[in-house]
Amino acid sequence: MLCLGIETTAHTFGISLVDGTRQGKDAILCNVKDVYKTEQGGMIPSELADHHVAVSQKVLRQALDVASEVLKKNLTVHDIDCIAFSNAPGIGNALRVGGFVARYLSVITNKPLVPVNHCIAHLEIARLVTPAKDPVLLYASGANTQVIAYDAGKYRIFGETLDMGIGNFLDSFGRLLGMGFPAGPTIQQYAEKAVEQKLPYVPLPYSVKGMDVSFGGMFTNLKRKIAEKAYTPEQLCYSAQETAFAMLLEVSERAMAHCQKNELILGGGVACNTRLKEMAKLMCEARNATGHVPDNEFLVDNAAMIAWTGLVMFKAGIFVTAEKADINPYERTDDVVVTWR
Ligand code: FE2
Repeated sequence: MLCLGIETTAHTFGISLVDGTRQGKDAILCNVKDVYKTEQGGMIPSELADHHVAVSQKVLRQALDVASEVLKKNLTVHDIDCIAFSNAPGIGNALRVGGFVARYLSVITNKPLVPVNHCIAHLEIARLVTPAKDPVLLYASGANTQVIAYDAGKYRIFGETLDMGIGNFLDSFGRLLGMGFPAGPTIQQYAEKAVEQKLPYVPLPYSVKGMDVSFGGMFTNLKRKIAEKAYTPEQLCYSAQETAFAMLLEVSERAMAHCQKNELILGGGVACNTRLKEMAKLMCEARNATGHVPDNEFLVDNAAMIAWTGLVMFKAGIFVTAEKADINPYERTDDVVVTWR
């Protein structure tokens, strides 16, 4: 059984095909994407949609070619059994492009559609590509920062940001230092230089409120410190990372204790940060838990997670026709009733 998945919640236009008859990572036949990037500034929704429209045909062609190569037969869209698309949550302009491509493919192939919640897909792909069975997910990306785990029929949010996502915080901070988008990898490099140079940590506002975190106070404080010119950019990058990641892992650890779960997985583009991975590993070791980190390809936004989650949902009887398919930019993780586990 083949499922084609389309990811378009934010900067990534991706298409993947998964094969339900294959096991583990081998189920993923292809995972093709084209990512919207800027030299300066962030994402402009209308330009983002233009990008997704412009690359859609090319990405679909590449995905079919790669999958055909793997299966050693010439695949067309008519060989696909269902079409999954990320219908929520995300930037409306971007979601609309994915929704349109999915509906178009559904109409010409007469195959059902599976609307997939992007945040849940980050968790489901980790269950496919790592040994984790019932983990707590620390989902750390640009717009989303949530600690999610399965409990009583839903993936529930046990902690989240009260203001900006961790990635948006890092991008906004990086922009103040003249970095392009995404700024996270450059901030990590600066932080590594600070460690090499043994630059001291600069105390920053540590904001954990109950099970939630907030980054607004730290951002304002960093803005002031940059203007004061009393610290090097490297020192500020190092201190921002240490503070923000400690906040995320404190909440994750508390969620693990509350849910009595002993597996942690990471998801989201910020989880590619090697310091966050290292701190997560240390936290898990300290509480005799296991930490699993999918390959970077499955941490960042990708269509394989949409295709895989769509396939699992389809097998459980969850699908709609093209007329009923819609996007839902503000759907929350715990709005979705999980009947496929
Ligand atoms: Fe994501």
